[in-house]
Amino acid sequence: MSDRAYGNRGSLLAVSDLHVGMADNRPIVESLRPDSDEDWVIVAGDVAEKVEDVEWALRLLAGRYARVIWTPGNHELWTTKHDPVQLRGRERYEHLVELCRSLGVSTPEDSYPLWPGPEGPVAVAPVFLLYDYSFRAPGTTTKEESLAYAHERGVVCTDEFLLHPDPYPSRDAWCRARVVETERRLAAHDPEIPLVIASHWPLVREPMAVLTYPEFAQWCGTELSADWHRRFNVAAMVYGHLHIPRTTWYDGVRFEEVSIGYPREWRKRGHPKGLLRRILPYDDGVTGPAPVSDGPAR
Ligand SMILES: [Fe+2]
Ligand SMILES: [Fe+2]
Repeated sequence: MSDRAYGNRGSLLAVSDLHVGMADNRPIVESLRPDSDEDWVIVAGDVAEKVEDVEWALRLLAGRYARVIWTPGNHELWTTKHDPVQLRGRERYEHLVELCRSLGVSTPEDSYPLWPGPEGPVAVAPVFLLYDYSFRAPGTTTKEESLAYAHERGVVCTDEFLLHPDPYPSRDAWCRARVVETERRLAAHDPEIPLVIASHWPLVREPMAVLTYPEFAQWCGTELSADWHRRFNVAAMVYGHLHIPRTTWYDGVRFEEVSIGYPREWRKRGHPKGLLRRILPYDDGVTGPAPVSDGPAR
């Protein structure tokens, strides 16, 4: 189906991992412009570390797109010494939610906006789940073993030092609280209205199969959401974080990794699927590359 077939209707687009704290990524964000006054864009986390940089990017996008939907990545939740905003953990998240609301940007704390698709409304659900170390490192069975393995291998996510879980005792405790609340909201959603679920971290573990360092998976999601794409009426799942832009299918559900990534990454691989991914209307693979169930790392 060509773009023209949709008439003047807009698209539901998605992007993540803008990392605008890196100067070379800012022109990428400045270049993003809608094709239609009705285009919506999902921003699935890792906009930046400093609150003022997050605000710069979201304000720019909110001025251009009919609706912007944000969910946090780990980088927004880092408390770095360079940021005048020294809030930690849940208070930092809540501060970002209030910032988004002041810009008219939807957050995981708001009702799911209904995108008016050509085949009926689709609810866009930005969710914030974090991770709980349950995507264990190879050969390990507990969080402690998995973390120790990562330390031995020298592959430790910076979150361990900068993403504070306050007031929760741990990042995994924060994750479990988020899972309970998010599951409750998804279960209360009208099953007749399909969902696009957007999270910085994928709902399932399968995308980890292509990681160069498998021990990094423990910072990438939770087994607690492993069946959500089957239990709920999910039209597509949007995620980022891995910096491996691609499209895969699990149990017949399309998963879109929509990251831009760091300059050193996109200089090497380019932007194999463009800067913005069109989530809906979906082209059914006719105009794009054939979908794959999984594949080699790019
Ligand atoms: Fe990222
Ligand atoms: Fe990330």
